[in-house]
Amino acid sequence: MKKITLALAAVAGLAATGAQAQGYPTRPITMIVPFAAGGPTDVIARIVTDNMSRTLGQQIVIENVAGAGGTTGITRAAQAQADGYTIMMGHMGTHGAAPALYPNLKYDPTKDFAPIGLAAGTPIVIVAKKDFPATDLKGFLDHMKANGEKVNMAHAGVGSVSHSTGIFFNSVIKAKPTMVAYRGTGPALNDLMANTVDFMTDQIVNVAPQIQGGNIKAFAIATRERSPVLPNVPTTKEAGLEGYEVSAWNAVFAPKGTPPDVVKKLSDALMKSLDDENTKKRLLELGGVIPTGAERTPEALQKLVESEVARWTPVLKAAGATAE
Ligand code: MLT
Repeated sequence: MKKITLALAAVAGLAATGAQAQGYPTRPITMIVPFAAGGPTDVIARIVTDNMSRTLGQQIVIENVAGAGGTTGITRAAQAQADGYTIMMGHMGTHGAAPALYPNLKYDPTKDFAPIGLAAGTPIVIVAKKDFPATDLKGFLDHMKANGEKVNMAHAGVGSVSHSTGIFFNSVIKAKPTMVAYRGTGPALNDLMANTVDFMTDQIVNVAPQIQGGNIKAFAIATRERSPVLPNVPTTKEAGLEGYEVSAWNAVFAPKGTPPDVVKKLSDALMKSLDDENTKKRLLELGGVIPTGAERTPEALQKLVESEVARWTPVLKAAGATAE
């Protein structure tokens, strides 16, 4: 008798899931952004969810949950009901660097999520306050080496993109600036523009408008080619710095166990958003990189997360980085 009951329950469960997915979404969806409003992760989230909301017929509401380099918000999202009504914008920090920096991380980026898809690639730019006493990367590096911890570097918390790419930068140039943590590089950029913090390595979508406006300095972009939106910013290689080429990425995840039909609806809506002219225009004008078709699938994102955890762990451990 018990076996029949269990079988019936399983069938009922599947039916309910199917029914649930069939009508999904029937109410607004929450997207947790694990950094303060106005930073790169928040900006990318708002750009891609604009068109996604229209496709899904329900508003995707952004909830900023900052702290601990993004791991606070991602932990909350990972533990949410796996029903498709809580999703998250993660990235190379929260789903790549974090395991190396948080020995007691409450989630495993490679196991505890249902990947939805890549949203944007984000080249890293080395930026400084306008009053920084250097006019090019060589002068910046000389100043860094001569002034050590008197120079302060902004970041969005241990394990964030700005922190992990900053740790990598400091290990390549053998400098030890004082690290200043913010709840996101949106607030950090405000202090950079107020000349109250010296520099940071940040995602292009956050800093491009302020570089173009002459409100902060950009010494180099850490990609092989220059960005079309920052044609006058040399690559690190052109500026004489070998060994510092790094790009980040932002991607949409749902909690593990989210029904496959729901994952597919979210993934299809994200892919459609990335083909929408307005979405593409807004991402490209900020220097974002639009993922190719093959890069957009949930399977491709799972592989990216696995490779990024494998890539960043030795880099950060070699740099002696640990969670504060
Ligand atoms: C980071 O990892 O540095 C974050 O993306 C910054 C932010 O989005 O505020």
